[in-house]
Amino acid sequence: MANRIDLEGKIAVVTGGAQGIGYAIAQRLQDSGAKLILWDREESLLEEARRTLGPEGQVVEIVTCDVAEWESVERAAKQSLEAFGRVDILVNNAGISGPNTTVADYPVEEWRRVIDIDLSGVFYGCKALVPTMLAQNYGRIVNVASIAGKEGNPNAAAYSSAKAGVIALTKSLGKELAGQDISVNCITPAAARTRIFDQMTQTHIDYMLSKIPRGRFVLVEEIAAMVAFLVSAENSFTTGAVFDLSGGRATY
Ligand SMILES: NC(=O)c1ccc[n+]([C@@H]2O[C@H](COP(=O)([O-])OP(=O)(O)OC[C@H]3O[C@@H](n4cnc5c(N)ncnc54)[C@H](O)[C@@H]3O)[C@@H](O)[C@H]2O)c1
Repeated sequence: MANRIDLEGKIAVVTGGAQGIGYAIAQRLQDSGAKLILWDREESLLEEARRTLGPEGQVVEIVTCDVAEWESVERAAKQSLEAFGRVDILVNNAGISGPNTTVADYPVEEWRRVIDIDLSGVFYGCKALVPTMLAQNYGRIVNVASIAGKEGNPNAAAYSSAKAGVIALTKSLGKELAGQDISVNCITPAAARTRIFDQMTQTHIDYMLSKIPRGRFVLVEEIAAMVAFLVSAENSFTTGAVFDLSGGRATY
């Protein structure tokens, strides 16, 4: 039974919201009363998400967007603000895994692609929507990092580095905005079984599972539950913080 979180009337942007963790977060925010704007680069999956989240009069806006491109994010922010006039909640969730290989063998183009999406994409999302949060003196931002950003997984250097960057970006921005009623936090989940696993080797997936003291993958609903609290008005003090979802793996 889910705790009741009050997001009534709040407008929430969830990037990478067409499937996986982002979709579960969107669903939980909607169940809590928020109106959704999903950004994703997969247009057909976005349409499908709107169909499944949209019945019963629910408003679900979808915006096709590549978070790795500043111009695309700027356009998505403009479109979102035109639709609702404000954005209260931003969940920067879109991300990819990149290849599982050693630093010595890591293709330079792949390194750039992972950093562009997983780190710059979060920066662009914040850059595009923080001004409106400042103007309304209200905002709740959650960035989806990873336990890899704290621990540094072998054979996933770009991903681990990007996620470590997301943690530092969260701390920087949290302090910048601490004078307003705006919080910026991040989460560091362990592995969750989603389509992102298709991008990884089975050896890497086995490695991640072996590192989780709980002995299982985190469920997307468990991640969404933590995010729902973090984006609520009641989360009015904590900012620039990292919330663990690692099933006991993280020790700091
Ligand atoms: N699943 C895990 O094991 C796990 C663990 C920790 C953190 N995470 C993070 O959670 C987030 C969501 O991952 P997931 O497991 O749901 O993966 P997923 O592949 O199921 O979903 C990711 C979504 O992001 C979208 N996306 C990817 N690149 C994009 C881009 N450039 N622009 C716009 N949209 C883009 C994809 O189309 C997809 O809909 C990612 O940031 C990931 O790094 C995942």
